[in-house]
Amino acid sequence: MTAQDHLVPPLAALRHRRSAKWRSHPADVLPLPVAEMDFVLAEPVARALHAAIDRSDTGYAAPTRELAHALRGYAHRAWGWTIDPDHVRTVTDVGIGIVETLRRLVSPGDGVVLSPPVYEPFGWWIREVGAQPVEVPLATRPDGERRLDLDALEEAFAAPGTVAYLLCNPHNPLGLVHTRQELTVLAELADRYGVHVLSDEIHAPLTLPGAAFVPFLSVSEAARRRGFAFHSASKGWNLAGLKAATVVTADPAPKRYVDRFSPHALFRTGHLGVLATVAAYEHGDAWLAEIVTALDRNRRLLGELLARHVPDIGYRPPRAGFLAWLDFRRLRGEGWRDDPAAHLLGAARVAVTSGLGYGAEGRGFARLNFACAPDTLTEAVTRVATATTATTATTAPR
Ligand SMILES: Cc1ncc(COP(=O)(O)O)c(C=O)c1O
Repeated sequence: MTAQDHLVPPLAALRHRRSAKWRSHPADVLPLPVAEMDFVLAEPVARALHAAIDRSDTGYAAPTRELAHALRGYAHRAWGWTIDPDHVRTVTDVGIGIVETLRRLVSPGDGVVLSPPVYEPFGWWIREVGAQPVEVPLATRPDGERRLDLDALEEAFAAPGTVAYLLCNPHNPLGLVHTRQELTVLAELADRYGVHVLSDEIHAPLTLPGAAFVPFLSVSEAARRRGFAFHSASKGWNLAGLKAATVVTADPAPKRYVDRFSPHALFRTGHLGVLATVAAYEHGDAWLAEIVTALDRNRRLLGELLARHVPDIGYRPPRAGFLAWLDFRRLRGEGWRDDPAAHLLGAARVAVTSGLGYGAEGRGFARLNFACAPDTLTEAVTRVATATTATTATTAPR
């Protein structure tokens, strides 16, 4: 037994879940792809949901300000950030919030900048509104750390036709936490060139010890003039299936775009999602702290396991979230260098997310979700190690 056992149901129980993570692969596959967590629900969230079911309270979300006020309270406690509830708009999920915002900002063919390797749907969302993705890859520092490439971003912002930048804050899949200094410069550049910044802050509640999340809209007047922030409890409290998120602004100019969302947008939000999110923001701090501790342990455990069993897989512990961006390019054998996720599924019966969806930057990489029991993580790395040994043995010169 480990200290974390009360947080994660046994694998046999997890296999009864009906969500995407647990129904996309046969039972012999260890699923560590899609960004759902294996942890049990936070007690206050479970209570709110059970109470709603007991009332048969499954209608539409009510037009109240409860969610905006709950987010305001949480953001203030967690990050010292003051939000005006009148500047919070409820939407179905972060994806819909970003797409609906982009729809009001772009004309067909406009450029929207993103920093790969980054959450794969960013590119889909930009294309969905008829805009062109403009890739400005993260810069690589001499020690291998990746950060926003502010010089290259300035060049892209200055180009004709660039209207917006999709910021992943914190950054999925690398778990980067951008600094106040970086965000301040980013906001200045955006303001100078008239570019809107859409800051996806969905992973922020899961910022891990040693890092401090900085809300984009908190950094400067320039950020508030240009920015939109997207928040949801769907990653932090594992509520993705319930469909509730928020768009936050902090200046009348960006708010005007959000005010043009369909008045029906609220009714496209999950009522249970709103109830659960309010419970998470108002009463979920203690549970979240336990989860952050568990994720902190798992990111270290993953590093130890890889160092011991497969040291050729490159790994930098993320500073936020539960995703590990693994570099397989040093492994011998074509399968590892091209699409290691496909190779792992066949050879190790471990499902991770392919790096190929992250653009050219993702070739030879895979994304592993470590929001699971330590035993599951250990089993996954053991399987990967066995598969790499087998492949190396068959591909090594005789
Ligand atoms: C950075 C990022 N944004 C958005 C999402 C999806 O959020 P939603 O389900 O609220 O659209 C995810 C899911 O993993 C994510 O990692």
